[in-house]
This record gives sequence, C-alpha cells and structure tokens, in this order.
Amino acid sequence: MHTITLEGPADFDGWRVNARSLALAGVPPQDTQWRVRGGDDGGLFDMAPAEPEALPPGLMPPPGTGLKVPKDFIELAKAVVCHSDPARFGLLYRLLWRMQSEKGLIGIATDADVVRARGMQKSVRRDCHKMTAFVRFKEVPHGQGQGRSGQNPRRRFIAWFEPDHYIVERTAPFFQRRFTDMDWLILTPHGSSAWDGQALRLSPLAASKPDISDETDDLWRTYFSNIFNPARLKVKAMQAEMPKKYWKNLPEASLIPDLIADAEASVRAMVARAASQPPAHHFRLQEAMRNAPAPDLPPAGTLAALKEQAKTCTRCPLHCTATQTVFGEGPENADLMFVGEQPGDQEDLAGRPFIGPAGKLFDTVLNETGIDRRTAYVTNAVKHFKYEPRGKKRIHQRPNTGEIEHCRWWLKLELDLIKPKLVVALGATALHALTGEKSGLSQRRGQFQDLGQGQSLFTTIHPSYLLRIPDLGKQGEERLRFEAELAQVARAMQAPHFQAGGSA
Ligand code: URA
Repeated sequence: MHTITLEGPADFDGWRVNARSLALAGVPPQDTQWRVRGGDDGGLFDMAPAEPEALPPGLMPPPGTGLKVPKDFIELAKAVVCHSDPARFGLLYRLLWRMQSEKGLIGIATDADVVRARGMQKSVRRDCHKMTAFVRFKEVPHGQGQGRSGQNPRRRFIAWFEPDHYIVERTAPFFQRRFTDMDWLILTPHGSSAWDGQALRLSPLAASKPDISDETDDLWRTYFSNIFNPARLKVKAMQAEMPKKYWKNLPEASLIPDLIADAEASVRAMVARAASQPPAHHFRLQEAMRNAPAPDLPPAGTLAALKEQAKTCTRCPLHCTATQTVFGEGPENADLMFVGEQPGDQEDLAGRPFIGPAGKLFDTVLNETGIDRRTAYVTNAVKHFKYEPRGKKRIHQRPNTGEIEHCRWWLKLELDLIKPKLVVALGATALHALTGEKSGLSQRRGQFQDLGQGQSLFTTIHPSYLLRIPDLGKQGEERLRFEAELAQVARAMQAPHFQAGGSA
C-alpha cells in the first residue's frame, strides 16, 4: 500500500506529481491511500513541504514515458481537489488510471466515477459562486500610528465566510481583482486569504469567527430593503439563490422573513400608488408648448435663462408626450457634473432630475462616498421622458440616437456655461452624448479621460442598472463596484492638483 501525504487540503500540484509517478510506475488505485498533512484542516501548514512520495526502486517509471490526460480532466481535477470529501484524491487517481486504457472515459456522463467527480466539480463551483456573492467586508479602522503614511492610507477590511469546501485559494484571485484598491482579509474555517495591494497571501489554517459586526451591517440592510421588490418576490427562487445556511453571516438576511411576510400587502400598496398617469398640468403644459415659439439661438448668459428656454424645447418629438422638460440642477459654478440618461416617470412629473428610485440609490451611494450632491450639477443626456404607455403605467424606453443627438445641443450649452472640471457619465447614453461614441462603456468604466479645455470625463454605470440585476449576489458586487468608482471620483475632486485627463 502506498500512502501519499499531500501538503494541503486542496494541493493540486502535490496530487498531480504523485499521481503521475504512481500511474507511470503501474501502481493500481486500490494500492494507494491519500491523506493530507495534519488532516483535512491543513493543520501542519507551516511544516517544510514534503518531496513527492518516493516509490520503491522496482516501481520507478522509465524516464520519458508519458500519460494520456485530456485537458478537460485537468480542469475537473483542479475543482475536485477543493471538495471536502476525503475520497476526492483517490477518486481522481482512479479516473487517471482508468483513462489510460478507457478512451473517452471523461466524456461518459453515466460512468459512476465520472458522475461523482462531476458532482464534486459542480458543488465546488457553486460554493465559489456563493463565496464571491456573499462575502461581506467590514472596515477595520486604522489604529493610532498604524496604516500607511501619506494622505490616503489604504482602507482595511475583514470578512468572515463559511464555505463548504476548500475554495479560499481558488476564489482569492477574484477578490484580488475586484477589491484591488483596499487591504482585505477573508477568514474561513477552511483557510484564509489576504491582500495588501502588493501580495496575495494564503493560509489553509482554520480561522475562528471574528467579532466584526459594525455599522456596515446597517448599510447592507438599508440597501437590501431599498432594492427588495415585493412584486417580483419568488420565495423559492430567492431561497435557492441565497440558501438559509448563509443567512447567519449576511447582515441583510435578518430582514428577509419580515419582507416576505409583508410582501403581499406591499404589492397591493404599490399597485395603488403605481398609477402614474400624468396629472392635469401635463396636458396644460403640452398645450403651452405647442403654442410656444421655437427656441432662439443659444442664449448667452445665465443657467436660469438656459433652463427657461429649455422649457419650450421642441427639438425632437419627445416633448409631445413628456409632461415637461427636466433640466439639470445644481450650482452654476460646480466643478463636478453628473450626466444621466433621461428623466424617469417620477422626474417627469416633478420636473427635477434623479429623484425617483434610481435617484434615491444614487443619493445613497453619493452619501456613502462623501460626495455632497448639492455641490454637483446633475443633469441628463436627454431632457424629456421617453416612455410607452401600458395600461395606467408609463414604461421607460431608451432614447434613440436621433433623440440623443438633438439633446446634445443642450448638454453642450450646460457644459460651456458651467465648465466643470470633471464630468461623470452615468451609463451608455451619457457616454454617447458626451463623446459621440455609441459603445465602449465596459472598456471605459472606472477610467478618467481628457475631454480637452481643462475638463476630464469619468465613466461609470447608471444606477438604474443596479436595480435591474435579478441576482442579489451579483447586484451586491456591482453595487460595491459602483461605490468604489464614485469613491475614485470623490478622491479625484479632493486631490489638490486634479488635472484634466488624470486620475489625480
Ligand atoms: N435616470 C436618469 O438617467 N435620470 C433621471 O433623472 C432619473 C433616472
């Protein structure tokens, strides 16, 4: 019997080196026994790494001999070694052994070993997905004398997660990419990962749960109750996506039972409120617009004059169905300008930008990132609400190229008058209106670029995109990314020598 001791519970390289030697030496699976140094907890992590298992001289493989290993098997094995089933290494070795004589084995969906391995692979993938969606970081304040010197010490975060499998190493690159701007530590009972901006560190040691509840929990709860849409509630789908076993470490989960219980009443109340038929003044205003003269040439002068003139804009057909022009608002000398898509239902009725659901989310994230909306100028690429009437509701329609092009005339006047140092495009329509380019949001997202004449452009998503993502985990991730991008904007605005085209 050959006993192979691997260095860690998900030691793929160790398994591969040993499995290869054993297979080439003709050692059958039933003569092998696989264990992990210090048990499956990786308890002896800090011991010196062992050499691959030495085989008795008679079993050493002849040099230069090779094994048949399809690429798909490597992917499968990399996932399966992360599974918590103690039989995983033996199962993989059995598959490797059988593959040498059974061609196409890995593609036989009914083979018992293949079924078991594929099941493990799926379970590991699902566990990774849940970890990337449900890790909740809490900020750890810098103590006195701690942290980096300089104006902006990196923020530090800690998270606790309880995966089913040994997936800490497998998911670490995701967190490194996604949260590269902050120092973080993720602790789990199956090991830990940490990032300090320079190096990713991993430990298979079991950690214990730290006491890290803080005010971030309240933020998660506020966010979750804001985005919870009782009309879309499907309890089974929700529980499948966010299984109960994760709830204990999710601050927002404490709200779920009450939100579910109240959902029916909330839907009835929403239906009662939803009748957003334009009020009578919509029709009076429309009439006034029909009789008003076309706008003069661009007015020199004040923002108030420009806004007044925009009230009677007939540059495109959208004025026929919208209640009123929704012009930008904010200080005439604002250094920062946000450009959205177009007013929504509530903005159209109130005559003010970003006051509906997307606006509320926008305000929350601005507050979190320390940007005072009152100091910024907030406007839209298109100044009239475009919608399709459906029953009593008015359903948002994206403005088309012609409408965006017509309305750029106003946006340019706003830019010329206000001369902001930094313009933030919220979503693809704004990017189109500001640059003339109809695509490229994802490539430009999170980046500054020079607009010329002392102005910079920063591109991010539109907040309503967050409200439309059905997967709560993904929604949480995207929300954090949006928050990080607005934090970039806040930092740029605070930088003493903010330069056009630079990220400060
Ligand atoms: N979406 C926008 O782009 N602008 C608004 O004013 C409201 C929602």
